[in-house]
Amino acid sequence: MAKNSFQALPGTRDLQSPDTDRMRALVAVFADEVSAAGFGQIVQPMFEDVRVFDRLGEASDVVAKELYAFEDKGGRHIALRPEFTASACRMFAELRPLTPWKAWYSGPAFRYDKPQAGRYRQFDQVGAEVIGSHDPDVDTELIALASRFYQRLGLTDVTLLMNSLGDAADRPRYLDALRGHFEANLDSLSEQSRTTLAVNPLRVLDSKRREDAALIEAAPVLRDYLSDEAASAFARVCDGLDSLGVAYEIAPRLVRGLDYYTRTTFEFAANSLEGAQNAVGGGGRYDGLVADLGGPDEPGVGFALGVDRTLLACDAEGVFDAPETTMDVWVVSTSDGLEALAITEELRRAGLRADRNFDGRSMRAQMKAANRSDAAIAVIIGEDEVADQTVTIRPLRTEGDQVTVARAQLVPAVKEMRQS
Ligand code: HAM
Repeated sequence: MAKNSFQALPGTRDLQSPDTDRMRALVAVFADEVSAAGFGQIVQPMFEDVRVFDRLGEASDVVAKELYAFEDKGGRHIALRPEFTASACRMFAELRPLTPWKAWYSGPAFRYDKPQAGRYRQFDQVGAEVIGSHDPDVDTELIALASRFYQRLGLTDVTLLMNSLGDAADRPRYLDALRGHFEANLDSLSEQSRTTLAVNPLRVLDSKRREDAALIEAAPVLRDYLSDEAASAFARVCDGLDSLGVAYEIAPRLVRGLDYYTRTTFEFAANSLEGAQNAVGGGGRYDGLVADLGGPDEPGVGFALGVDRTLLACDAEGVFDAPETTMDVWVVSTSDGLEALAITEELRRAGLRADRNFDGRSMRAQMKAANRSDAAIAVIIGEDEVADQTVTIRPLRTEGDQVTVARAQLVPAVKEMRQS
């Protein structure tokens, strides 16, 4: 008879401890930073009406090729979220919270990307959004927050790249110049980029194809086409970063992979990672997105950091180990009764980390497991202990004798030994 055999799908991964401990610890550090800065957590649905993601851009890979979109049993056209910003704006438009609305999130996102190291079809992001303020100091605060987070993880080799994409009104003038530049040199452009050019010339700047590199290098830059307001807002963000001592590089060709951006855009590149997958996070302003999703015309700005890639960068720099998770107590029982069950429960209720063996294994096998577990103490219950209503408590990692105490003294005796 044929036996079924399954593997995790391409671009998905099975994670287990200690990787999961590390991921949880990273999210905890992020949660700590954002809550200390006045952000409240939001939890959004993992799927939305596919049109919520339209504004990410029909010429962006994220929408054109990578969206997990399908029809559900009710005939709705839905998509798994490829990111959180659009659905945060949908949520804002629907719930109309007070502004400025400062929200943070964490969880998986889905993109039908080409799987490779640091590029997955299901990956995790943590991020923060502020909706309802035009103040460029908000941009600065968000960027400083993300840098502080990387610093707290111990990452040192991360470069902040900054650019401004200007306002909606600046865009047509720049797009004309850009289109003119590429059209004058159509023959030297890759075939894919020629297709992209017809839909959105800005996206051509995103091309990583070698044959496009020289032409992209020579292309006009948006900064020369900014309105006075956009230019002074960008200068204010840069001044803010300077005043906080946050180092950055101006990257005039940084356009990011999503279409909703206006004004400030930024990306964090981990220099320890392979070029194409070295963006560990990014973000920017998206004034106009909330209105596009049926909400009031409130501006927005935010960022998202790739959890998986950030952890890869931590590996590459040898920082941010999994937190220690040692057991306090291992319960060893050679009696047939329910004592091990009750004792383990009692220890856990008392706030101790406790584990035990099952399947009636020998004393020797159980002690071996206790030693392997890193538990500091073993609590032993044999026939004698059951008969005398006692427990034996033995230190596993320190010198010192085991003691036998009354069953009722279990928790205080374990705590005392743990402290000694
Ligand atoms: P994004 O640049 O598309 O921006 O994604 C943010 C980060 O998610 C990337 O820098 C990268 O670390 C990670 N990431 C993206 N795709 C993958 C993948 N296939 N595998 C592994 N990691 C990946 C956004 O998503 C925007 N929503 C950021 C934002 C928030 N802008 C304003 N607010």
